[in-house]
Amino acid sequence: MSDKFGRNDLCWCGSGRKYKKCHFFIDEQIEIYRLRGYEVPHRKLLKTKQQIEGIRESGKRNIALLNFIENYVVDGVSTEEIDQLIFEKTKELGGIPADLHYEGYPKSSCISINDVVCHGIPSERVFLQDGDIVNIDVSTIYKGFFSDSSRMFCVGSVSAEKQKLVNIAKECVELGIEQVKPWTFLGDIGQAVNDHAKNNGYSVVKEIGGHGIGVQFHEDPWVGYVTKRGTGMLLVPGLVFTVEPMINMGKANIVADTSDNWAIYTVDGKPSAQWEKTVLVTETGHEVLAY
Ligand code: MF3
Ligand code: CO
Repeated sequence: MSDKFGRNDLCWCGSGRKYKKCHFFIDEQIEIYRLRGYEVPHRKLLKTKQQIEGIRESGKRNIALLNFIENYVVDGVSTEEIDQLIFEKTKELGGIPADLHYEGYPKSSCISINDVVCHGIPSERVFLQDGDIVNIDVSTIYKGFFSDSSRMFCVGSVSAEKQKLVNIAKECVELGIEQVKPWTFLGDIGQAVNDHAKNNGYSVVKEIGGHGIGVQFHEDPWVGYVTKRGTGMLLVPGLVFTVEPMINMGKANIVADTSDNWAIYTVDGKPSAQWEKTVLVTETGHEVLAY
Protein backbone atom coordinates (compact mmCIF):
# COMPACT_ATOMS: atom_id res chain seq x y z
CA MET A 1 0.00 0.00 0.00
CA SER A 2 2.71 2.46 -0.97
CA ASP A 3 0.53 4.85 -2.92
CA LYS A 4 -0.76 7.51 -0.58
CA PHE A 5 -3.86 9.52 -1.27
CA GLY A 6 -4.56 12.99 0.05
CA ARG A 7 -7.40 12.94 2.57
CA ASN A 8 -9.40 15.37 0.44
CA ASP A 9 -8.69 13.64 -2.88
CA LEU A 10 -11.33 11.46 -4.44
CA CYS A 11 -11.05 7.85 -3.23
CA TRP A 12 -9.14 5.38 -5.40
CA CYS A 13 -12.18 3.09 -5.50
CA GLY A 14 -14.15 5.39 -7.78
CA SER A 15 -16.98 5.97 -5.29
CA GLY A 16 -16.79 9.71 -5.96
CA ARG A 17 -16.38 10.31 -2.23
CA LYS A 18 -13.40 11.97 -0.56
CA TYR A 19 -10.70 9.50 0.41
CA LYS A 20 -11.01 10.38 4.12
CA LYS A 21 -14.74 9.53 3.98
CA CYS A 22 -14.22 6.33 2.02
CA HIS A 23 -11.26 3.90 2.07
CA PHE A 24 -8.98 5.95 4.34
CA PHE A 25 -9.88 4.03 7.51
CA ILE A 26 -9.68 0.65 5.78
CA ASP A 27 -6.26 1.46 4.27
CA GLU A 28 -4.96 2.61 7.66
CA GLN A 29 -6.17 -0.58 9.33
CA ILE A 30 -4.66 -2.79 6.65
CA GLU A 31 -1.34 -1.00 7.02
CA ILE A 32 -1.34 -1.59 10.79
CA TYR A 33 -1.87 -5.34 10.30
CA ARG A 34 0.72 -5.46 7.51
CA LEU A 35 3.33 -3.83 9.73
CA ARG A 36 2.57 -6.40 12.43
CA GLY A 37 3.44 -9.14 9.93
CA TYR A 38 -0.03 -10.33 8.97
CA GLU A 39 -0.93 -11.37 5.43
CA VAL A 40 -3.13 -8.59 4.05
CA PRO A 41 -5.06 -8.31 0.77
CA HIS A 42 -3.72 -6.19 -2.03
CA ARG A 43 -5.94 -3.19 -2.76
CA LYS A 44 -6.79 -4.56 -6.22
CA LEU A 45 -8.67 -7.45 -4.56
CA LEU A 46 -11.06 -5.07 -2.79
CA LYS A 47 -14.10 -4.69 -4.99
CA THR A 48 -15.66 -1.29 -5.64
CA LYS A 49 -19.37 -0.64 -5.29
CA GLN A 50 -19.87 -1.00 -9.04
CA GLN A 51 -17.94 -4.27 -9.15
CA ILE A 52 -19.93 -5.64 -6.21
CA GLU A 53 -23.17 -4.75 -8.00
CA GLY A 54 -21.88 -6.56 -11.08
CA ILE A 55 -20.93 -9.68 -9.12
CA ARG A 56 -24.31 -9.59 -7.34
CA GLU A 57 -26.11 -9.54 -10.71
CA SER A 58 -23.93 -12.41 -11.93
CA GLY A 59 -24.66 -14.29 -8.70
CA LYS A 60 -28.42 -13.90 -9.15
CA ARG A 61 -28.12 -15.69 -12.49
CA ASN A 62 -25.99 -18.44 -11.01
CA ILE A 63 -28.59 -18.99 -8.29
CA ALA A 64 -31.40 -19.06 -10.88
CA LEU A 65 -29.42 -21.64 -12.82
CA LEU A 66 -29.13 -24.00 -9.85
CA ASN A 67 -32.83 -23.50 -9.02
CA PHE A 68 -33.70 -24.31 -12.63
CA ILE A 69 -31.59 -27.45 -12.87
CA GLU A 70 -32.99 -29.11 -9.74
CA ASN A 71 -36.02 -30.58 -11.59
CA TYR A 72 -33.77 -32.33 -14.08
CA VAL A 73 -31.62 -34.17 -11.56
CA VAL A 74 -33.43 -37.50 -11.83
CA ASP A 75 -32.69 -41.19 -12.25
CA GLY A 76 -31.65 -42.08 -15.81
CA VAL A 77 -30.62 -38.63 -17.08
CA SER A 78 -27.12 -38.32 -18.53
CA THR A 79 -24.81 -35.69 -17.09
CA GLU A 80 -24.29 -34.44 -20.66
CA GLU A 81 -28.03 -33.64 -20.90
CA ILE A 82 -27.84 -31.66 -17.66
CA ASP A 83 -24.79 -29.79 -18.93
CA GLN A 84 -26.59 -28.89 -22.17
CA LEU A 85 -29.51 -27.48 -20.18
CA ILE A 86 -27.06 -25.45 -18.09
CA PHE A 87 -25.41 -24.07 -21.22
CA GLU A 88 -28.77 -23.04 -22.73
CA LYS A 89 -30.14 -21.56 -19.50
CA THR A 90 -26.96 -19.55 -18.83
CA LYS A 91 -27.29 -18.02 -22.32
CA GLU A 92 -30.99 -17.34 -21.80
CA LEU A 93 -30.12 -15.47 -18.59
CA GLY A 94 -27.69 -13.31 -20.56
CA GLY A 95 -24.55 -14.96 -19.23
CA ILE A 96 -21.64 -17.12 -20.36
CA PRO A 97 -20.64 -20.33 -18.54
CA ALA A 98 -17.25 -19.56 -16.98
CA ASP A 99 -16.25 -23.23 -16.95
CA LEU A 100 -16.51 -23.68 -20.72
CA HIS A 101 -12.99 -23.62 -22.23
CA TYR A 102 -11.49 -22.55 -18.90
CA GLU A 103 -7.94 -23.92 -19.11
CA GLY A 104 -9.22 -26.35 -21.72
CA TYR A 105 -12.21 -27.56 -19.69
CA PRO A 106 -14.71 -28.91 -22.26
CA LYS A 107 -18.12 -28.38 -20.58
CA SER A 108 -20.33 -25.72 -18.97
CA SER A 109 -20.53 -27.31 -15.52
CA CYS A 110 -18.83 -29.78 -13.21
CA ILE A 111 -21.02 -32.74 -12.21
CA SER A 112 -19.48 -34.92 -9.52
CA ILE A 113 -21.23 -38.11 -8.41
CA ASN A 114 -20.65 -40.05 -5.14
CA ASP A 115 -16.87 -40.66 -4.83
CA VAL A 116 -16.06 -37.93 -7.36
CA VAL A 117 -14.87 -35.09 -5.14
CA CYS A 118 -15.07 -32.34 -7.79
CA HIS A 119 -14.50 -31.44 -11.47
CA GLY A 120 -16.49 -34.40 -12.83
CA ILE A 121 -16.80 -33.81 -16.59
CA PRO A 122 -20.36 -34.24 -17.88
CA SER A 123 -20.63 -37.12 -20.33
CA GLU A 124 -23.27 -38.81 -22.48
CA ARG A 125 -22.03 -42.12 -21.03
CA VAL A 126 -22.64 -41.17 -17.39
CA PHE A 127 -26.22 -41.57 -16.12
CA LEU A 128 -27.60 -40.56 -12.73
CA GLN A 129 -28.97 -43.43 -10.71
CA ASP A 130 -31.35 -43.75 -7.83
CA GLY A 131 -29.34 -43.37 -4.60
CA ASP A 132 -26.61 -41.11 -6.04
CA ILE A 133 -25.50 -37.93 -4.37
CA VAL A 134 -24.46 -35.38 -6.98
CA ASN A 135 -22.67 -32.05 -6.86
CA ILE A 136 -23.50 -29.62 -9.67
CA ASP A 137 -21.07 -26.70 -9.82
CA VAL A 138 -21.86 -23.75 -12.09
CA SER A 139 -20.18 -20.41 -12.70
CA THR A 140 -21.55 -17.46 -14.64
CA ILE A 141 -19.86 -14.56 -16.39
CA TYR A 142 -22.37 -11.71 -16.65
CA LYS A 143 -21.26 -8.37 -18.11
CA GLY A 144 -17.69 -9.34 -17.28
CA PHE A 145 -18.36 -10.32 -13.65
CA PHE A 146 -17.92 -13.84 -12.26
CA SER A 147 -19.93 -15.84 -9.74
CA ASP A 148 -19.53 -19.44 -8.64
CA SER A 149 -21.75 -21.75 -6.60
CA SER A 150 -22.65 -25.39 -6.27
CA ARG A 151 -25.18 -27.59 -4.52
CA MET A 152 -25.67 -31.25 -3.72
CA PHE A 153 -28.67 -33.07 -5.16
CA CYS A 154 -29.99 -36.45 -4.09
CA VAL A 155 -31.27 -38.76 -6.84
CA GLY A 156 -34.38 -40.66 -5.76
CA SER A 157 -33.90 -42.14 -2.31
CA VAL A 158 -30.37 -42.04 -0.92
CA SER A 159 -29.07 -43.93 2.11
CA ALA A 160 -29.25 -42.28 5.54
CA GLU A 161 -25.44 -42.32 5.58
CA LYS A 162 -25.15 -40.34 2.36
CA GLN A 163 -27.94 -37.97 3.35
CA LYS A 164 -26.09 -37.17 6.56
CA LEU A 165 -22.88 -36.43 4.64
CA VAL A 166 -24.79 -34.05 2.36
CA ASN A 167 -26.38 -32.28 5.34
CA ILE A 168 -23.17 -31.96 7.34
CA ALA A 169 -21.28 -30.64 4.29
CA LYS A 170 -23.94 -27.93 3.97
CA GLU A 171 -23.62 -27.07 7.65
CA CYS A 172 -19.83 -26.86 7.23
CA VAL A 173 -20.25 -24.13 4.59
CA GLU A 174 -22.79 -22.28 6.72
CA LEU A 175 -20.59 -22.43 9.83
CA GLY A 176 -17.58 -21.32 7.76
CA ILE A 177 -19.49 -18.35 6.36
CA GLU A 178 -20.72 -17.36 9.83
CA GLN A 179 -17.08 -16.58 10.60
CA VAL A 180 -16.78 -14.05 7.80
CA LYS A 181 -16.50 -10.50 9.07
CA PRO A 182 -13.92 -7.75 8.62
CA TRP A 183 -10.71 -7.73 10.69
CA THR A 184 -10.79 -11.47 11.30
CA PHE A 185 -8.82 -14.04 9.31
CA LEU A 186 -9.37 -16.40 6.43
CA GLY A 187 -8.10 -19.29 8.58
CA ASP A 188 -11.11 -18.89 10.88
CA ILE A 189 -13.33 -20.29 8.13
CA GLY A 190 -11.32 -23.47 7.72
CA GLN A 191 -11.16 -23.98 11.45
CA ALA A 192 -14.97 -23.91 11.70
CA VAL A 193 -15.38 -26.18 8.66
CA ASN A 194 -12.81 -28.70 9.78
CA ASP A 195 -14.05 -28.81 13.39
CA HIS A 196 -17.61 -29.60 12.29
CA ALA A 197 -16.51 -32.23 9.76
CA LYS A 198 -14.24 -33.94 12.31
CA ASN A 199 -16.92 -33.89 15.00
CA ASN A 200 -19.05 -35.94 12.63
CA GLY A 201 -16.31 -38.40 11.79
CA TYR A 202 -15.60 -36.92 8.35
CA SER A 203 -12.47 -35.49 6.76
CA VAL A 204 -11.79 -32.36 4.72
CA VAL A 205 -9.87 -32.33 1.43
CA LYS A 206 -6.63 -30.39 1.89
CA GLU A 207 -5.25 -29.85 -1.60
CA ILE A 208 -8.22 -28.15 -3.23
CA GLY A 209 -9.74 -24.94 -1.95
CA GLY A 210 -11.86 -21.95 -2.75
CA HIS A 211 -10.66 -18.75 -4.35
CA GLY A 212 -11.11 -15.04 -4.73
CA ILE A 213 -13.55 -14.25 -7.54
CA GLY A 214 -15.33 -11.38 -9.25
CA VAL A 215 -13.29 -9.69 -11.93
CA GLN A 216 -11.65 -12.99 -12.83
CA PHE A 217 -12.76 -16.60 -12.27
CA HIS A 218 -9.93 -17.48 -9.91
CA GLU A 219 -8.28 -14.66 -7.97
CA ASP A 220 -6.35 -14.49 -4.73
CA PRO A 221 -6.74 -15.55 -1.98
CA TRP A 222 -6.66 -19.32 -2.09
CA VAL A 223 -9.15 -20.53 0.54
CA GLY A 224 -8.21 -23.70 2.38
CA TYR A 225 -10.47 -25.56 4.82
CA VAL A 226 -7.91 -27.26 6.98
CA THR A 227 -6.66 -24.03 8.51
CA LYS A 228 -6.24 -22.54 11.96
CA ARG A 229 -8.12 -19.67 13.56
CA GLY A 230 -6.19 -16.40 13.48
CA THR A 231 -4.06 -17.38 10.49
CA GLY A 232 -4.10 -16.54 6.79
CA MET A 233 -5.22 -13.40 5.01
CA LEU A 234 -6.86 -10.57 6.92
CA LEU A 235 -10.52 -10.20 5.92
CA VAL A 236 -11.31 -6.70 4.71
CA PRO A 237 -14.54 -5.14 3.38
CA GLY A 238 -14.74 -5.59 -0.39
CA LEU A 239 -13.01 -8.97 -0.51
CA VAL A 240 -15.02 -11.58 -2.46
CA PHE A 241 -14.25 -15.30 -2.41
CA THR A 242 -15.86 -18.73 -2.48
CA VAL A 243 -16.44 -21.07 0.44
CA GLU A 244 -16.54 -24.58 -1.02
CA PRO A 245 -15.08 -27.29 1.22
CA MET A 246 -15.08 -30.89 0.04
CA ILE A 247 -16.13 -33.20 2.87
CA ASN A 248 -15.24 -36.89 2.64
CA MET A 249 -17.09 -39.67 4.45
CA GLY A 250 -13.83 -41.59 4.74
CA LYS A 251 -10.22 -40.47 4.39
CA ALA A 252 -9.21 -37.06 3.03
CA ASN A 253 -6.89 -38.51 0.37
CA ILE A 254 -7.73 -37.75 -3.23
CA VAL A 255 -6.50 -38.83 -6.65
CA ALA A 256 -6.91 -37.26 -10.10
CA ASP A 257 -8.39 -39.13 -13.05
CA THR A 258 -5.46 -40.06 -15.26
CA SER A 259 -7.50 -40.17 -18.47
CA ASP A 260 -9.31 -36.81 -18.38
CA ASN A 261 -6.97 -34.96 -15.97
CA TRP A 262 -9.91 -33.14 -14.38
CA ALA A 263 -12.06 -35.43 -12.23
CA ILE A 264 -10.86 -35.87 -8.65
CA TYR A 265 -11.81 -39.02 -6.72
CA THR A 266 -11.55 -40.14 -3.12
CA VAL A 267 -8.78 -42.74 -2.82
CA ASP A 268 -10.88 -44.99 -0.58
CA GLY A 269 -13.89 -44.87 -2.91
CA LYS A 270 -16.18 -43.47 -0.21
CA PRO A 271 -18.52 -40.59 -1.07
CA SER A 272 -17.66 -36.90 -0.89
CA ALA A 273 -19.96 -33.89 -0.68
CA GLN A 274 -19.50 -30.21 -1.46
CA TRP A 275 -21.56 -27.03 -1.41
CA GLU A 276 -20.22 -23.71 -2.65
CA LYS A 277 -21.21 -20.12 -2.05
CA THR A 278 -19.69 -16.82 -3.22
CA VAL A 279 -19.27 -14.44 -0.27
CA LEU A 280 -18.54 -10.72 0.09
CA VAL A 281 -16.92 -9.26 3.20
CA THR A 282 -19.01 -6.20 4.13
CA GLU A 283 -18.37 -3.37 6.62
CA THR A 284 -20.32 -5.26 9.29
CA GLY A 285 -20.05 -8.93 8.34
CA HIS A 286 -20.75 -10.63 5.06
CA GLU A 287 -23.20 -10.99 2.20
CA VAL A 288 -23.72 -14.20 0.23
CA LEU A 289 -23.69 -13.26 -3.47
CA ALA A 290 -24.32 -16.76 -4.88
CA TYR A 291 -25.39 -20.05 -3.28
N1 MF3 B 1 -16.45 -24.04 -10.11
C1 MF3 B 1 -15.15 -24.67 -10.02
C2 MF3 B 1 -14.42 -23.96 -8.90
O1 MF3 B 1 -14.95 -23.93 -7.85
C3 MF3 B 1 -14.53 -24.51 -11.36
C4 MF3 B 1 -13.55 -25.52 -11.74
S1 MF3 B 1 -12.76 -25.08 -13.18
C5 MF3 B 1 -13.42 -26.07 -14.36
O2 MF3 B 1 -13.40 -23.38 -9.00
F1 MF3 B 1 -12.77 -25.82 -15.44
F2 MF3 B 1 -13.33 -27.32 -14.00
F3 MF3 B 1 -14.66 -25.76 -14.54
CO1 CO C 1 -15.13 -22.25 -7.05
